[in-house]
Amino acid sequence: MIAGSSSSVAAPFVDIDIREKRYGERAVLGNLRLSLAPGEIVALLGASGCGKSTLLRIVAGLDRDYTGSVAFNGEVQHGPSPLAGVVFQEPRLLPWLRVDENVCFPERARGEALVRARSLLDEVGLRAEDGARWPKHLSGGMAQRVAIARGLFTQPQLLLLDEPFSAVDAMTRMRLQDLLLTIVQAHGMGALVVTHDIDEALHLADRIVLLETAGGSRSRPASRIFEVDTARPRRREDTPGSAWRRVLLDTLEASAR
Ligand SMILES: Nc1ncnc2c1ncn2[C@@H]1O[C@H](COP(=O)(O)OP(=O)(O)OP(=O)(O)O)[C@@H](O)[C@H]1O
Ligand SMILES: [Mg+2]
Repeated sequence: MIAGSSSSVAAPFVDIDIREKRYGERAVLGNLRLSLAPGEIVALLGASGCGKSTLLRIVAGLDRDYTGSVAFNGEVQHGPSPLAGVVFQEPRLLPWLRVDENVCFPERARGEALVRARSLLDEVGLRAEDGARWPKHLSGGMAQRVAIARGLFTQPQLLLLDEPFSAVDAMTRMRLQDLLLTIVQAHGMGALVVTHDIDEALHLADRIVLLETAGGSRSRPASRIFEVDTARPRRREDTPGSAWRRVLLDTLEASAR
């Protein structure tokens, strides 16, 4: 069942309250309130250019030019925090560093840091010897696993992922989606995932935030939050129900008009 909602069941540890984000004359985000509880996955859907990456950058502390606040455990953030790990669409590995050095970066890959990097590589399904490889020798799926390990390195409570699986083939994508579900459960962390894929959102998310494109006749940006109240793990053959997809597609289409 999918329902319009903005509430969260467990005690939230991430509170996002964006009153307004502008680029010059144009308001991109506005009146967006979202809380995440540990273990909760929220998907961000919306047409290209509606502000999904902008929202993620704000939550990551990479953009402070907005009105509102982002708080972790009740503490308002003023910049990047180790409590938030970020995974981008492309792995963005540094080519002059080996895999385990990339996971630790900017820390040096030695001692405890190296032990943690190796354990994370194992967790994302890579072998210990992969740590010594160069990024250019990895497949796209492997590189994205390294990027996920890097996102987990600071032991964040929140993982922010911007279209993390859009550059890999369909099988790899499903495996990485399941890896994300395993990691979120194992670490009891929250995840905010940007995706263009309704099926992906319905497979992964407890809630789906649909951002509507601002501008044109609509000067105020808007968002709708849908609660997907089917327990995880979800069988791919069962989800999504066609009614869910219809609602999301209709809303996406209407917002893109
Ligand atoms: N640094 C910037 N300066 C001015 N405008 C910007 C800047 N960054 C983004 N924008 C604009 O803000 C809007 C939102 O951009 P954003 O990258 O957040 O969209 P998005 O939803 O992530 O899109 P996509 O799905 O294509 O990745 C777009 O219209 C974009 O052109
Ligand atoms: Mg984007």
